[in-house]
Amino acid sequence: MILSKSLSLWTILCIFALLNSLAFILASPIKKHAYVPETKTFYLHLYKAKLSPDGLERVVWTVNGTYPGPTLVVTKGDRLIIHIINNLGEPTSIHFHGFFQRGTNWYDGVPGQTQCPIPNNTTFIYNFTIPDQSGTFWYHSHYLAQYVDGVLGAIIVKDPNDPYQNDYDEEIVVLLSDWYHNESSTLISYYLSPASEGNEPQPDNGLINGRNNYNCEWAHASHKCIDKAGLSKFNFVPGKRYRLRVINTSAFSNFIFSIDEHEMDVIEVEGMMTKRHKIHRLIINVAQRYSIIVTADKLVSNFWVRADLQADCFDDSSDQIVHLNPYVKAIVHYEGANHLDPTTKRWADNPNYHDNCIDLNTSDLKPLFLENVPAKADQIIYLNASFENDDFNINRGVINGSTYVIDIYNPTINQVLFENKHSFPPNQNVFGQFNTSQVIDIVVYNDDDGEHPFHLHGHTFWVLGSGEVDTEPDYSKLNIYDPIRRDTATIPAEGWIVIRFVADNPGIWAFHCHIEWHVEAGLVAQFVELPNELRELKPPTDWKQLCIKSSNPYNGLKPQSEPKIFINDMRNIDILVKNLGWNWGEMEFNWNYLLVYFLNLF
Ligand code: C2O
Repeated sequence: MILSKSLSLWTILCIFALLNSLAFILASPIKKHAYVPETKTFYLHLYKAKLSPDGLERVVWTVNGTYPGPTLVVTKGDRLIIHIINNLGEPTSIHFHGFFQRGTNWYDGVPGQTQCPIPNNTTFIYNFTIPDQSGTFWYHSHYLAQYVDGVLGAIIVKDPNDPYQNDYDEEIVVLLSDWYHNESSTLISYYLSPASEGNEPQPDNGLINGRNNYNCEWAHASHKCIDKAGLSKFNFVPGKRYRLRVINTSAFSNFIFSIDEHEMDVIEVEGMMTKRHKIHRLIINVAQRYSIIVTADKLVSNFWVRADLQADCFDDSSDQIVHLNPYVKAIVHYEGANHLDPTTKRWADNPNYHDNCIDLNTSDLKPLFLENVPAKADQIIYLNASFENDDFNINRGVINGSTYVIDIYNPTINQVLFENKHSFPPNQNVFGQFNTSQVIDIVVYNDDDGEHPFHLHGHTFWVLGSGEVDTEPDYSKLNIYDPIRRDTATIPAEGWIVIRFVADNPGIWAFHCHIEWHVEAGLVAQFVELPNELRELKPPTDWKQLCIKSSNPYNGLKPQSEPKIFINDMRNIDILVKNLGWNWGEMEFNWNYLLVYFLNLF
C-alpha cells in the first residue's frame, strides 16, 4: 500500500518535472549555443592604387588593394586585433563604426578626440573586444575625408544565438555608396571656399559593392574610361532565403534600395533585431545599416536591384553641373537563368516616393524584444544644427553657434587623461560632460534645409521621436515604450529629433552629422563621459607614441622621432619593400600583400 502510494506520488512528480522542462523548452525562443570567444587578427594595408570601380580610372585609397576593403567577419564576444599598415603617403586613423569600445576609448579612431593620427609608413594595431554587440557594422577612415577616397569596409558580427538564424539560408553584404571621380581633397577645397556658396560636392556616380557602369562620354579626357565596366551580381538559388546586410557608406547621399518583384523584411537596424517588417523600398541614409530577408521565390530569371540616389535632395542651384545617373543598379541572377540583362520593372506603388527626401519610416520598426527604456532623462541637452557663412564667406556647419575646429595633435582624450582638463576651448564643441552615469536626452533642432544623419560614437540611442518642418517635440508624445535603438539617425530638414542614451561609457565620444562634407565644415560635437573612470584606465604605450611620432601639417613641426621598427610587425616590411625600390601604389595585382603575408609568417 505504502509502496504503491509513494510510487504513484513519484510518478506524478516525475510527470510534473517532465512537463515543466517541456514547458521550459517550448518557452525559450531559441536554443542557446555556447560560443568560446576567439581572437581574430586582421591585416589592413592601406595604399593608393589606380582602380576603375565604374570604368573610370582614378587613384583610390585602397584597403589591401581593393575598394571597398575586405569584409571582417567576427562573432560576438571576439577580440579583434587589427593591424593598420599605413602606406597612403599621409596620416590616417580608423574608426570602427557602431562599437561601444567600452574601456578602450583610445581605439575609437577619431583624430583630435581619441587619438593622434597614424603617420605614413607606420603600423598601428587596434585591439578591442565586442562583448555585447552583434549585427552589421563598418570601418572607415576618420582622418579628413579619406573614406570618400576609399578607406572603408564592412564588419559583420555574428550572433551564435541569432533569433532569426532559422529564417535565412545565406548572407550577402551590400555596400551602397556615392562615388566621386575627383579626390576628396580637391572637393573639400572647393566646398570650403566662397565659390561653392555652401553647395556640397555632388557625386559622379553610385556604386553597389564597388561596381557600376558609367557613360564615358561624360568623362574628362584626362581620365581613362571604359563603358560597361559591369554591375554587381547576386546569385540566388531558387527557394533560398537571403539575409542582405545593407550598408550606406556614402559621403553625401541617401539611397532608396529595392529589388524588382521581391518584397523584403527588415530584421535588423544597426545591431538591434526588429520584428519582421515588410517593405518594398529601403530608405537608408549615410552610415546607416539594415538587414533584410529576401526570398528567392520568383520564376527563374534576372531582376534589377536598384539603389536610387536621392538626387532630388541635392542642391540643384549648384553651378558645378555634373553628369549623374542616379539610378544605380545591380542584378539578382537566379541560378539557371540566362545571362541577359533583366527586363523587370520597378515597384509601381507610390510613384511619387522620389519627392520625399525622408528616411525610411522607422517608427514602423519595432524591437524584437521589448527593452526597459529609462522613463525619464537626468539631463536634456539642446543642440541647434545649422550652416552659416564665416568672416571669409565660407559656409560652415555650426552647432549652438559654434563651428568645430579639429585640434588634430591635441586630442581631447589627452587633455582629459594627462592634463586633467575640465574645460575646453569653445571651438571644441564639448556640449556635455557627464561625471556620473546618467540618462541623457539630446534634442537636436535642424535649422538647415537639408536632412542630417547624426551619429553618436560609443553608444546606441533610443529614437524617442522626430519631426518634420513646422513641428515641435512634445515630451508627452515621445515613444518610450518600444522605440528602436541605433547609432545613426536622420534629422529631417528643418525638423528635430529626440534621442535618449545612458552615459555610462568612459570616454570622449563624437556626435556628428555623417555627411562627410558637413564633418569637414564643422558640424561636429563631442561629449566627455565619466572622465574620472577614464583616468583609471591605462592607455597602451604605442597609442601614446602616436602623438610623438606625428608630424604636424598645421604648424610644420617635424616628427620628434622616427617611427619605431618592430620585428615581427609589418611596419618593417613596408620599409623593406621601400628599400627594394618598389612602389606599392602602382602595382596592378596585389602581389605585395601576398608577400607581406608570407613574410609575416616568419
Ligand atoms: Cu562612422 Cu564618426 O563615424
